[in-house]
Amino acid sequence: MKISVIGCGYLGAVHAASMAEIGHTVVGIDVDEEKVKLLSAGKAPFHEPEFDEMLARNVEAGRLSFSTDFADLADAQVHFIGVGTPQGPDGSADMTYVNAAIDSLLPHVGKSEEPTIVVGKSTVPVGTADSLEQKVVDAGAILIWNPEFLRESFAVQDTLRPDRLVYGVSKDEERAKVSQEILDEVYDDILQAGTPRLIMDFPTAELVKVSANSFLAMKISYINAMAEICDATGANVTMLAEAVGLDDRIGKKFLRAGIGYGGGCLPKDTLAFQARTEELGLSSLNFLTDINAINDRRRQHAADLAVEALGGDVRGKRIAILGAAFKPNTDDMRNSPSIDIAKFLADAGANIVITDPAAGPVLKVKRPDINVADSAHEAIKDAEVTLLLTEWDEFKNLDPATLEPAGKIVIDGRNAIDPQTWKNAGWTYYGMGRS
Ligand code: UDX
Repeated sequence: MKISVIGCGYLGAVHAASMAEIGHTVVGIDVDEEKVKLLSAGKAPFHEPEFDEMLARNVEAGRLSFSTDFADLADAQVHFIGVGTPQGPDGSADMTYVNAAIDSLLPHVGKSEEPTIVVGKSTVPVGTADSLEQKVVDAGAILIWNPEFLRESFAVQDTLRPDRLVYGVSKDEERAKVSQEILDEVYDDILQAGTPRLIMDFPTAELVKVSANSFLAMKISYINAMAEICDATGANVTMLAEAVGLDDRIGKKFLRAGIGYGGGCLPKDTLAFQARTEELGLSSLNFLTDINAINDRRRQHAADLAVEALGGDVRGKRIAILGAAFKPNTDDMRNSPSIDIAKFLADAGANIVITDPAAGPVLKVKRPDINVADSAHEAIKDAEVTLLLTEWDEFKNLDPATLEPAGKIVIDGRNAIDPQTWKNAGWTYYGMGRS
């Protein structure tokens, strides 16, 4: 099938390449010329495992192309909207890019004999699809909402083998049927693999995405609240999470205490969801406020620990930060806890040196004001305190005996290293809810 994907960020670019990988002819559209140039040359504009090879392979095979010109998508039967919905000033999702994508797309659809579908993948406030449907129908196409659940660093795997596919369909039975059949054809390979496919109305599909992300955020903030209690009582949050997580009903995943969640989704989506519930007059549903507040406190707590460990004054002191990305195996630094913690400490007068295998080279180009080291060994050399803030394997596997800091103090923001090994090498170890 001929498919277009509008928006070539982490979501759109991976989706476009994945659709080509399962045999479709795909054009990715983005307004950023530089990005389109890179993608057209088969080069990934960001670090994402498995993506580079898949992109290059499909561009090479002629199944995947990229363009800034919406006219290039006119012969596609399926149009995915994968543009971002960044945080607006009041916390709500900024719909500028979704609206612009729809407005630029619609003049080009509905010209063929075959029915055309517009598939919303962006994370939007509940009620969006209902408000867009008539516009799409007037242009001669059918709207279907198909939220995306991919995780960065597993994006390819999550797109090709998702846990589930969710279709939000029109109240109009004919439109619902036709759009579902076309999307089933697009995802045939994925459906054949046994992936559950759930069909529901527009608002429920939109809510599945934000409620899933809020639930994940809640799990993380829950265990981080337990970490605060463990710190106050001398208990160990890692053992606690292990024991609690063995209850099947709770599960072990997303119970890693630390400096909290970051990235382009969880922080933004929880705030936007909260803003939407307030708009809907449901302001008594304020559990999201606590989830966010706990998460914010984690960043401050890690910075405070560093200050405390250095006797209350970090001015002029060299502090090594291991990790800039919001999680390992990505170079994405959007809303990264590590960057905030570095900023708190730099504002307090510390000399920060930061290192990250994937985000480090990006930081070097984008932030020449930041001191970026090429390796953990280089960053830690002569540092008075070391903070491990992104749990890359190469940081987890460091041998503490081989490092040459000025002060052997480590703050393990992800509970990622073995306290005893570091203590045996003479280090003072601070964990998050464990010591
Ligand atoms: C998330 C959702 O998982 C995904 O389904 C959705 O489509 C987009 O948002 P992503 O942002 O890629 O994906 O990252 P995720 O793996 O969920 O991690 C988010 C943050 O939570 C990271 O900063 C991570 O370090 C942190 N985290 C995760 C914890 O602090 N503890 C945990 O136990 C798990």
